[in-house]
Amino acid sequence: MTDSDYKPGLEDVPAAKSAISFIDGKRAQLEYRGVPVEILARESCFEETAWLLLKGDLPTQKELADFDADLRERRGIHFRLKDLIKCLPSTGHPMEALQATTAALGMFHPHRQVTCATKNWDAACRILAGLPTVVAAFARTRRGEEPIDPRPDLDHAANFYYMLFGKEPSAATRKVLDACLILHAEHEMNASTFTARVTASTLASPYQTIAAAVGSLSGPLHGGANEEVLLMLEKIGAKENVQSWLDEKLANDPKFKVMGLGHRVYKVKDPRATVLQELAEHMFAESARPKNYEIALELERITAGIYGAKGVYPNVDFYSGVVYQSLGIPTDVFTPIFAIARVAGWLAHWLEQLNGNRIFRPAQIFVGKADAAYVPLDKRP
Ligand code: ACO
Repeated sequence: MTDSDYKPGLEDVPAAKSAISFIDGKRAQLEYRGVPVEILARESCFEETAWLLLKGDLPTQKELADFDADLRERRGIHFRLKDLIKCLPSTGHPMEALQATTAALGMFHPHRQVTCATKNWDAACRILAGLPTVVAAFARTRRGEEPIDPRPDLDHAANFYYMLFGKEPSAATRKVLDACLILHAEHEMNASTFTARVTASTLASPYQTIAAAVGSLSGPLHGGANEEVLLMLEKIGAKENVQSWLDEKLANDPKFKVMGLGHRVYKVKDPRATVLQELAEHMFAESARPKNYEIALELERITAGIYGAKGVYPNVDFYSGVVYQSLGIPTDVFTPIFAIARVAGWLAHWLEQLNGNRIFRPAQIFVGKADAAYVPLDKRP
């Protein structure tokens, strides 16, 4: 092994052969099992998209109806898990709560052998159905409110909204939330999906596999960026301040990174950002555009002139926060929403990894000391 073998961040190193999603980072193309994500966001629903990712093909009407029923049946969580959620510190981040409760969910549904296809499918449905329930429960209990039980008569997106706010969403809000879940459902070998595959490769339980992926998604360089974008827009404060804010940041640090911009694979605007922006435009068509949306538009315009040559453009997180904020969703619940969508992709990768699994065990280039002497503690200064 030499230094030339080393690729920081494993850039361009294939870590798996996968048939789940395809990205062309120069053409702003993203497909789930061959179907463009823009079409899915417009025409499909999260349940159908999750099936497509997990099974490889669009479901028949019966398959979708059965899958939907399976999910609705598995939304409820054990009363002891609700108690556990109530005991979590209200100051904790919802992603911390999600990681802890995903692992805990597995303790109520032990699944330590991953060899049975029927049991694996049951676990996949339970995780897909259960994560929105725990996210909504923590979002409420930390404010001193009782968790709201899921409603089996509502679809996935509408039920999540209902468990969060205690009221049904309008048809337009349901559609926006559903489209956001579809857009975030899968994105090939990103950090959290890689984490899921590495954990899956040890034959860990699906609950622990997904809990590991949740931890990976939480960082500000990955899924946590959507929250950071909104905090940044709030700090900028007004469209007129964008240029001076950026000038000041760049004067302090010429390598300053604007949250929500840049991507390892896309060297043009992320197609998901384009769809999210269309959704935002649609939502704001009949009302005044929110201030944060105006700031984001101005920031995109100004940064295109500075970073465009490097291929740094808005990614999925740039507009998602503005959309979620306009739905009334608290800022620190943005990344958990990303997680309840991405879990479809993680589970698809979990199942794919198990098929012909080999444990991940990469190499390293050793740069430490050799032959160091062991000096007894009492002889050290
Ligand atoms: N703002 C300004 N410049 C940027 C940004 C940014 N957000 N992102 C990258 N650049 C510049 C870098 O400074 C670097 O410039 P240089 O060649 O002059 O040194 C060049 O673009 C390449 O950047 P890297 O950091 O090497 O790109 P990498 O592929 O390692 O990182 C990442 C990708 C982590 C997404 C990065 O763009 C970033 O930190 N963005 C901000 C955080 C963010 O939005 N994350 C969400 C990503 S999408 C997702 O995970 C869901």
